[in-house]
Amino acid sequence: MADLVFQKCIDPRCGGTANLTDTAFRCPKCGGLLDVAYDWNRLPVPKSLKHFEGKWASRHNPLDFSGVWRFRELFPFAPDSAIVTIGEGQTLCQRSDAVAAYAGLNTGKLFLQYEGLNPSGSFKDNGMCAAFTHARMTGATRAACASTGNTSASLAIYCAAGVTSGTPMCGVIFIGSGKISYGKLSQALEHGALTIQIQGDFDDALRRVQEVSRQLGIYLVNSVNPFRLEGQKTIMFRVLEALRWEVPDWIVVPGGNLGNVSSFAKAFSELAELGLISRLPRLAVINAAGADTFYQLHEKHGLRWNGGQFDKAKIDNYYAALDASHRHADTLASAIEINRPVNLPKALRALDRCNGVVRAIPDAEILDAKAKIGAGGLGCEPASAASVAGLRQLVREGIIGKDERVVCVLTGHVLKDPDETVAYHSADQATFDAKLGKRGVKSVSFANRAVPVPNDLDAIVKAIEQNA
Ligand code: F0G
Repeated sequence: MADLVFQKCIDPRCGGTANLTDTAFRCPKCGGLLDVAYDWNRLPVPKSLKHFEGKWASRHNPLDFSGVWRFRELFPFAPDSAIVTIGEGQTLCQRSDAVAAYAGLNTGKLFLQYEGLNPSGSFKDNGMCAAFTHARMTGATRAACASTGNTSASLAIYCAAGVTSGTPMCGVIFIGSGKISYGKLSQALEHGALTIQIQGDFDDALRRVQEVSRQLGIYLVNSVNPFRLEGQKTIMFRVLEALRWEVPDWIVVPGGNLGNVSSFAKAFSELAELGLISRLPRLAVINAAGADTFYQLHEKHGLRWNGGQFDKAKIDNYYAALDASHRHADTLASAIEINRPVNLPKALRALDRCNGVVRAIPDAEILDAKAKIGAGGLGCEPASAASVAGLRQLVREGIIGKDERVVCVLTGHVLKDPDETVAYHSADQATFDAKLGKRGVKSVSFANRAVPVPNDLDAIVKAIEQNA
């Protein structure tokens, strides 16, 4: 397998490569990001995407049951015997006319790719099972990540599941102090991961975990690890499957560390290269306004991929300005509270390939979109709702047409961050202020307030008759 699959520098001028089982996750020649690359001419590739419809008949095989691994011919880096699965990727691409109306799209045009159904409650499981599989292939016994919460919850659950399956892995998690929602922190603790709470934010934690992993030889599962991104590709394969293999006009995804947008563009580019689709969708990445590095650089500073020769000085100057003004990422969408996205170059390439755009949305609009999504029947966390809030903005601007077919990725489950949801709907000003008001949200539009009633049958009946 080693000569059919390898790691390759994303800079086309560099040409650096690394072996399949190398775990440095940086180009040995230039230090840049790596892709997993395949010699497709010598690998068995399905002739049509319809091939995958047959997998349902063999779902007694856990690898065909998994919503990730049933597409393994499209990221064939592991022998079946090495594959780790806990049933991830059984997710839903749901048409939502109510949310379409809110976002300004015509009926039947919006689909919500609901990744909250994964075992750890977020889309991160798609990539984590791939990273764990690769870790196993390299003989690793410890795995680490820095996280805003979901990657760490996912790492923790796969470590814990490994104990049951006889392939234990010790998980080490770096989180910024006070920066992680309780749902996610509780998962890391419950599943037994070593949780290092450092003083600082995600950007600090990511820097540290890379140093520590190098020093101690711990397998790194952050999205600089290109094998994670191979697993995330399958979200797009499932979108296509749900749309009967028709490519939508737009994919809208929240942007944090920018691994997913990179992965989605790789998925579509490879499908096109293999002749399995005939056109690419456009991509929209949505930042929170309080963590808008990608928006600033792409939309305001004109930073472009430029065939790999992107203007590094623009990025350095931007980061220097952040440092000089002591500006840290600050958004209630804590999952994407990131100012130094590690996959920035890959994301530039993704937008270049898929004619992409970036927008940045204030927290209040993200939270309103979240309430609308919830009222429409799918519960998601704030960062996920950035996709719908961003779609609404792009429709308002006329960038996305009302009649275009759009898929918004809902990345994490509503139970990831119950405190924020309760504060949003709270009638109690102190509760609202403690969580939302003090972070700059003045008012919200779709609060569903609890109705206080005395412990009295008549009063209860009256309250129901008046409100339901
Ligand atoms: N949505 C959710 C719910 C996330 O947890 C993340 C990232 C994103 C969107 C953004 O994805 O980083 O690929 O651009 N969460 C990471 C974490 C950073 O540590 O869990 P991205």
